[in-house]
Amino acid sequence: NWSMQNFIDMEVEKIRELVGDKKVLLGLSGGVDSSVVGVLLNKAIGDQLTCIFVDHGLLRKDEGDQVMDSLQGKFGLNVIRVDAKERFLSKLEGISDPEQKRKIIGNEFIYVFNDEAAKLDGIDYLAQGTLYTDVIESGTATAETIKSHHNVGGLPDDMTFQLIEPLNTLFKDEVRELGLELDMPESLVWRQPFPGPGLGIRVIGEITEDKLEIVRESDAILREEIKKAGLDRDIWQYFTVLPGFKSVGVMGDARTYDYTIGIRAITSIDGMTADFARIPWDILQKISVRIVNEVNHVNRIVYDITSKPPSTVEWE
Ligand code: XMP
Repeated sequence: NWSMQNFIDMEVEKIRELVGDKKVLLGLSGGVDSSVVGVLLNKAIGDQLTCIFVDHGLLRKDEGDQVMDSLQGKFGLNVIRVDAKERFLSKLEGISDPEQKRKIIGNEFIYVFNDEAAKLDGIDYLAQGTLYTDVIESGTATAETIKSHHNVGGLPDDMTFQLIEPLNTLFKDEVRELGLELDMPESLVWRQPFPGPGLGIRVIGEITEDKLEIVRESDAILREEIKKAGLDRDIWQYFTVLPGFKSVGVMGDARTYDYTIGIRAITSIDGMTADFARIPWDILQKISVRIVNEVNHVNRIVYDITSKPPSTVEWE
């Protein structure tokens, strides 16, 4: 693609000229935008770029390793992975209110990022994956206020960096095109949206490690089956949630009293409105059977058939 290659050449040149021999910091979330910024900057300035990847312990199965394998392993980015699981989980202990959970996770993210950034010397620039849509939306009243959304890489108050935002003239589909042109894998470029608070808002109510494990494992099965069925590009988002109540079931000739898993799968254009995805029954059945058989402490599967509105995409 000529125009994307042209964009890359021009941006690389621009970044080199701006940065000179200075250092740049980037918060990596594992999402498309920050990953593309990372690969682009790495192409331009190599190891003058340092990335911080905060692993809050609320990522999906194998996600942290995949981010590292791809961005550090394949692309050679200089990534500091911060294992902050204990820090997040201890702050979240005993908290069941969704908004409180979101705030705790969002704030802790900034604290952990700042703590790591403070250990680095001589950083002058902070790179961010701001898109054109973020630029035109800021300042208007369209921002979602139903839930306090949080995104990675909040600018530390007391740090004086200059911003580099190489994607701020691009739309999402152009960022994906750019990612492909940079040889990034489709699994990363076409990654489904994943909220900053991660699995923390897919375990309804209080978060425990056991519950996270149930959501993580059931979600991995769902993703595997959706991909196998070739539906992963048609469905905007698909994931499992753990409502946290138990109900009665029977397995063999024993009574069980275990958790329910909810499946949420939606079609959407921008996440602002959504319709539940019409996944074929036989695929849903396969997913249901696998989750109950393979994930401990689950004896019931329900499918969320509400649209947005009146529901939201996430359950919290
Ligand atoms: P809701 O649940 O509000 O979600 O209908 C709309 C879209 O936004 C995602 N989402 C988030 N994304 N930080 C994010 O970056 C967040 O805190 C957050 N909460 C929800 C959600 O997955 C869906 O795509």
